[in-house]
Amino acid sequence: MYLEETFKTSLVSWFETNQRQMPWRETTNPYYIWVSEVMLQQTQVDTVRSYYQRFIQQFPTIEDLANADEALVLKLWEGLGYYSRARNFHTAAKEVVAQYHGEVPRNPQDFLALKGVGPYTQAAVMSIAFNLPLATVDGNVFRVWSRLNDDTQDTALQKTRKAYEIALEPYVQESSGTFNQAMMELGALICTPTSPLCLFCPVQANCEAFEKGTVLERPVKTKKLKKTHHYLYTYYIENDRGEMLIEQRTASLLKGMWEFPTFPADTSRETLVQELGEDLIIAETPSFSLKHQFTHMTWNIQVFRAKCKSQGQASRAFGKNRRWIPVAEKEAYTFPVPMSKIYDALQEAD
Ligand code: ADE
Repeated sequence: MYLEETFKTSLVSWFETNQRQMPWRETTNPYYIWVSEVMLQQTQVDTVRSYYQRFIQQFPTIEDLANADEALVLKLWEGLGYYSRARNFHTAAKEVVAQYHGEVPRNPQDFLALKGVGPYTQAAVMSIAFNLPLATVDGNVFRVWSRLNDDTQDTALQKTRKAYEIALEPYVQESSGTFNQAMMELGALICTPTSPLCLFCPVQANCEAFEKGTVLERPVKTKKLKKTHHYLYTYYIENDRGEMLIEQRTASLLKGMWEFPTFPADTSRETLVQELGEDLIIAETPSFSLKHQFTHMTWNIQVFRAKCKSQGQASRAFGKNRRWIPVAEKEAYTFPVPMSKIYDALQEAD
């Protein structure tokens, strides 16, 4: 796999005129570039813009992030998903302050050793911020490069990633940050998964899949993700003081975020009474149901309203993970998207 030099010049000159304006493309601050790259993994550019701005306003330096409460970091991430990214990044910021006096390390091995930093983030930050010769291989690059070479290696395999990193090495010896971003931008704007705009492609002449008519068959990816379904009952419980009962998650998925008390859908009323107290009046039928997709699972939630009389067990919100909060103060807590949807739907109904 080796494409002639015209490939890089065509790609980069296309990029210079067609790239989207992005706030993190106007900085050389490695910490800001790192923020953007962590957010851009798994999330679209347009969604990231506003989160990025708020994040760097709140934490203008890596020390500010390192010193922040985890709850605030999560709050600023609310709605972006993949919350372990935020927690790991927070930990990495503390590591940078403790080990490198708050300077993002320029040595790729040191950077890779930080919490949450994998080969993609390493290559992206090291190339964009410091112009080091590392190739980024993300979903866009897999697609673009497999099409350019009409390559049939399984892109779900680690060894294919490694092979691509090596194949791309010649192109990142100079201006690696620009080249990497140009590859990703081509994947986002032209070489898209299902309706690529080959007629507008600056490197169509270099594309073997275009020549052979196999563009839509690339990349080859075998590993199919099987989602598990979870059936849940969620209880939106209000008391007569205008408060609602919330609970902090301890499970590793969405850990530290707040939700309305949620149980497996086959939980009996007896267990609920034990868990939540006897002084509850729970609606017999759900108010509505809701489906939410995560990467590896789907939540199928039925939402029940409940009222709590003020004297009993539930009113004390026993356990440190549970709290009564004024209904209007939801914004002080971080909720997963499906829980925010439940709250919004119920407020609208009232
Ligand atoms: N995807 C992730 N990082 C990107 C970047 N810097 N430019 C374009 N697309 C990206």
